[in-house]
Amino acid sequence: MIKATTPAKINLIFEVGELEDTGYHGVNSLYLELDLREEIVIKPGIKGVSISVAGDLPQRHLTAVPTDSRNLIYKVAVALCQKLSVDMPAIEISLFKRIPVAGGMAGGSADAAAMLVAFNRYLHEHLQTRLLSVAELKELAATLGSDIPFLIDGGFAIGVGRGEQLTQLDPLPFDTHWVICVSSEGLSTPVVFGKFDELFHVEPFSDFNQLEISSISDLAQAMANDLEEAAISLLPAISDSKSMLLELGALKAMVSGSGPSVIGLFSSLEEAELARVSINNSGGFALVASASYAGTRLES
Ligand code: C5P
Repeated sequence: MIKATTPAKINLIFEVGELEDTGYHGVNSLYLELDLREEIVIKPGIKGVSISVAGDLPQRHLTAVPTDSRNLIYKVAVALCQKLSVDMPAIEISLFKRIPVAGGMAGGSADAAAMLVAFNRYLHEHLQTRLLSVAELKELAATLGSDIPFLIDGGFAIGVGRGEQLTQLDPLPFDTHWVICVSSEGLSTPVVFGKFDELFHVEPFSDFNQLEISSISDLAQAMANDLEEAAISLLPAISDSKSMLLELGALKAMVSGSGPSVIGLFSSLEEAELARVSINNSGGFALVASASYAGTRLES
């Protein structure tokens, strides 16, 4: 049995450039890892690839995850077998989810990152394949999804290109705690990018190396997301989540990635917990997470 875990990501700053011929937009992103971790376990199976899904999320999130070849995990398995020139072994994959589905927090990409790391080890142990290096895994990851390379290393990083060209930064010099307000509806990433193209002209990218983030209020002031207005125009209820988080004491509330999750920044875990309870008591669904610097890990 091989087990791996992967964190969630948020984009503290997300700047969107032109739509390129590849069908992707150039981005300039400041990524931060959060300690909401997905778990994947791979065991020998009887026939083909079977995927089962459980988790700490409302049922609609779990039933939305495909368990066949549409799942990114399956695509990762195929890509790794191709790269290592082996036939797909019979395997049973169990996924335990904590990251909201279709929420702008890279849940699907996190599962893919966990699968890359776990299956690389599984194939090495069971079929004696060469163990791919982290650099090779990240290269393969970039062909499968823009956020997967970041999730392999995790931490705090600048991402350019589609988000896959990474420069790791020193950890933030203070703790951050986040309340994630999960929407009852999902948003499709390509649709949100399309709305951005329709509504906005692109601005030149900032130089994140010039940023000075030495306190939590510097961070609150620096946070920005070019996709926020596009996401709100598609799902206006997002604005209510932002207002609620600010009323509950968030130093900043902003759409995460392409949304619709809204993240609220808090300086203490206690305040974040109180806000979470208050949102859940009023019929919403919120989670608490903190910045972490662990990346994807094999667990024994
Ligand atoms: O790579 P990922 O699976 O995250 O992207 C999903 C979709 O989001 C892409 O097919 C593309 O339509 C859009 N996208 C984009 N520019 C990016 C990242 C994603 O237009 N930098």
